[in-house]
Amino acid sequence: MTKPPKILYDCDTGIDDAMTLLYLASLVQAGEAELTAVGTVHGNIDPVTGALNTLRVLEAAGIPVAGAGPDAGGQGVPVAVGAARPMAQDVHYALDWHGTDGLGDTHLPEPAGRPVSEPAPAQIVRLARETPGELTLLATGPLTNLGSALLLDHELPSLIREVVVMGGAFDHPGNITTHAEANIWHDPEAADLVFAADWPIVLVPLDATHPTAVHDDWLDRLAAHETPVARFAASILEFYADAYTPTLKRRGAVIHDALAAMLVVDPELGEYVQRPVRVELRGELTRGTTVWDARSLPADDTRRPVKVAVGSDVAAFQERLLSALLTF
Ligand code: RIB
Ligand code: CA
Repeated sequence: MTKPPKILYDCDTGIDDAMTLLYLASLVQAGEAELTAVGTVHGNIDPVTGALNTLRVLEAAGIPVAGAGPDAGGQGVPVAVGAARPMAQDVHYALDWHGTDGLGDTHLPEPAGRPVSEPAPAQIVRLARETPGELTLLATGPLTNLGSALLLDHELPSLIREVVVMGGAFDHPGNITTHAEANIWHDPEAADLVFAADWPIVLVPLDATHPTAVHDDWLDRLAAHETPVARFAASILEFYADAYTPTLKRRGAVIHDALAAMLVVDPELGEYVQRPVRVELRGELTRGTTVWDARSLPADDTRRPVKVAVGSDVAAFQERLLSALLTF
């Protein structure tokens, strides 16, 4: 039997990041994954609010967090705050999509736990050094923490098992500019550092996530479930679906980040192509766009090819996510 992956989750919590935390919590409770640590980054919201949201979600899901309760310290999942701004541009948040609190304006009470004092990029480096070759980095926000960790430790790529990123758009329009996807556009320099590094990357762009949109039937099945976690998930998705409906032209929501998490544990749910990926850093209209080399080999690009998801088993994704949410 293969060992459950040890996941370090880097996120900008955020509604679909929160759904992903619930999905990861269900895997932890089923013994199918280990959540080694979480780091937060600017993106949907500032990283301190993102860390508090992460703690709120993990606590709601019954996952012990480091720094909570009378014997605060060691045992639970550490949640570290990371970069508050991108490497080379101004910071932007996505409050229209995620609410002024990042969780659909639900304004939940303060969590019991607190973020740890170690910054998220330092946490990545330390944990990679402590468990060489074991850690999977799952990143569903801008890549500033991963880029900073690469700058801190040039040996990092050799210490990581796999990097799984939700981001980018290739044969799909952008969702923040005509061509760019939000996570990459929020910090193009950091994203390009990550794609340039010599480590195995799985990239899950809008091409794969958009077709997984859930609609009324799925949302109604979730809302019909009377547990606190299902009620919380339904309430934040209500806000997200309001934001998504004009784009989808019917009521629904794209839970992008959860697909990336599911492909960590169930890679066979995805369809992939292997291509070197770069980020456009200079274009007036195209800055932050992901560009792949789709020419037939031999490619000019010397970068290690990225495994890019171009589709997935949508029905399986939707059913597995819903079942996970109903296990609490
Ligand atoms: O483009 C989708 C991504 O942007 C998701 O990670 C979402 O949470 C936002 O950060
Ligand atoms: Ca996100």
